[in-house]
Amino acid sequence: MCGIVGYLGPQNPKDIILQGLKKLEYRGYDSAGVAILDHGIFKRVRAEGKLVNLEKKLVDEKFEGHLGIGHTRWATHGVPSERNAHPHQVDGISLVHNGIIENYLEIREDLLKMGALLTSETDSELVAHLVALEIKKTKDLFLAVKSILLRLRGAFSIVVIWDQKPKEMIAFKDGPPLIVGLGPEETFIVSDVQAAIAHTSEFVYLEDREVVWIQNKEVRFFDDQGNEVKKAPVHVAWSEDQMDKMGFPHYMLKEIYEQPRAIAHAIKETFQIPADFESQFDQVQKITIVACGTSYYAALMGKYYFEKLARIPCEVDVASEFRYRNPLIKKNDLVIAISQSGETADTLSAARLGKSKGALLLSICNVKNSSLDRESHIQMYMNSGIEVGVASTKAFTCSLALLNVLALRLGLYRNQIQKPEFKEQEEALKALPSQVEAILSYDKYFLEASDAFKEFKGFLYMGRGVSYPIAMEGALKMKELAYLHAEGYPAGEMKHGPLALVDANIAVVMILPLDEHFEKSLSNLEEAKARGGKIISLSTGHQPKLKKISDRYLSLPKAHWSTNPILSVIPLQLMAYHLADSLGHDVDQPRNLAKSVTVE
Ligand code: G6P
Repeated sequence: MCGIVGYLGPQNPKDIILQGLKKLEYRGYDSAGVAILDHGIFKRVRAEGKLVNLEKKLVDEKFEGHLGIGHTRWATHGVPSERNAHPHQVDGISLVHNGIIENYLEIREDLLKMGALLTSETDSELVAHLVALEIKKTKDLFLAVKSILLRLRGAFSIVVIWDQKPKEMIAFKDGPPLIVGLGPEETFIVSDVQAAIAHTSEFVYLEDREVVWIQNKEVRFFDDQGNEVKKAPVHVAWSEDQMDKMGFPHYMLKEIYEQPRAIAHAIKETFQIPADFESQFDQVQKITIVACGTSYYAALMGKYYFEKLARIPCEVDVASEFRYRNPLIKKNDLVIAISQSGETADTLSAARLGKSKGALLLSICNVKNSSLDRESHIQMYMNSGIEVGVASTKAFTCSLALLNVLALRLGLYRNQIQKPEFKEQEEALKALPSQVEAILSYDKYFLEASDAFKEFKGFLYMGRGVSYPIAMEGALKMKELAYLHAEGYPAGEMKHGPLALVDANIAVVMILPLDEHFEKSLSNLEEAKARGGKIISLSTGHQPKLKKISDRYLSLPKAHWSTNPILSVIPLQLMAYHLADSLGHDVDQPRNLAKSVTVE
């Protein structure tokens, strides 16, 4: 988390850095700051809170220089405040950091013993002190950085500049991404290519423990032993205009409305993967899917698809749990890592662990060239286009569509389903975009329903079978956006605890499309109704019996069991969005959260 932009070149660094930080605000918005060369020193301006506060402070600021760094922060060590905002400055050194220095306590103690004057509570400032101390000895920024590298433990990406070298910028990383953008006359260092794509399409991705040394227009890379490494740039053709809100009040709403097109694209691309693709999985006996957040709920759905359609045993694990429980992964297992960003620290580590145990690693990412994407044996893409809203929407539905197609293809290839069933589901998938469109056209009903949600103190989202992961995702959206307590549960478990919560202040949101579980879920709803719970139900078409016991009934188009979940989640996204918006919350940047979680 945290976003970094570094710039060295002939343009005005203030504008370039601010534009870049705007693209990175999804990575954290607790504070922001810049340090830009001005008459031989780095003038620093910082502000607590969102980037707009920094922008206001910078309106009248002018800088006479062509080198600068900027940062947008998601707080780890130290509260969100101007004091803790980056860049940190010590004796002419300015430094921005993304990640965590795990041994910061030990470094802090050493520095205090040496009389260092600490001005913040951050681990990042300590690194600036270390560099400053080394520079006193070496008088060389590159050597100073090289000598402190081994001291740092944790996950970090760091850019450092020194006012004695106004044409030099050094960066290094071990964990969170850092990418060097190469223009003919200028160089950028960014956490995400989006921050520099308006200026260049040539990028070099830094690998862990690599250092980049930029002097004037010369860019050189080194490994952690100090050996120079040659790295070829990657051409990135992601167009910048997708960052536009296109007239929507929020990115999230725009992204919800983009789903018909995004899903159509994801389905088409996955069906079009060449026919020999399946043979790569010939040896696979077991699948383990790892992910975090919304991607984890997509992973849960993967289990239903792979086991039902391809008859391959499938386990699903939260990445942060998987990586620490010495999981039983063998050669010929398939580990699938799902991550919109491809940078989530836990997912990345879980994927690496699977790979180290001999598994085949398949990644499903939205961001091409992300760390996970680059490290996988086989890559697949959500193809949903850039997702800016912190709460994931279209990446989720595209992941579900992709997993459905993949499981179908494997099922047919392994003779677990026959051509007619494949065709039937293919048709169901192709019908999805227009069905999602139809649901979106009823948005005013979801807006109206969300208004009624204001009276509830909590929400229980329930579903059975493929509706269970959707219940979990619906509850997550409510938490992330509306800051209201919500739990997702398998409906069959209601009697084993959650029923005790039910009273007139609790809404039971039951997802029960017309499938094999419908009658059982209906009985569970009766039980909640009998205890005074308020019932909101989502089902297929017209369901008089269900309507009768529901305080609010929301209708979905008739669909196949496999595509029902993709349809059911749309009203849940919309209702959480509308409720949060009407409560005055920042829907695109919910409090305390960040889109790309690059720390554990
Ligand atoms: C954060 C985001 C979520 C996202 C999760 C996993 O928590 O706020 O929207 O689902 O990270 O992100 P990933 O990029 O790995 O899918």
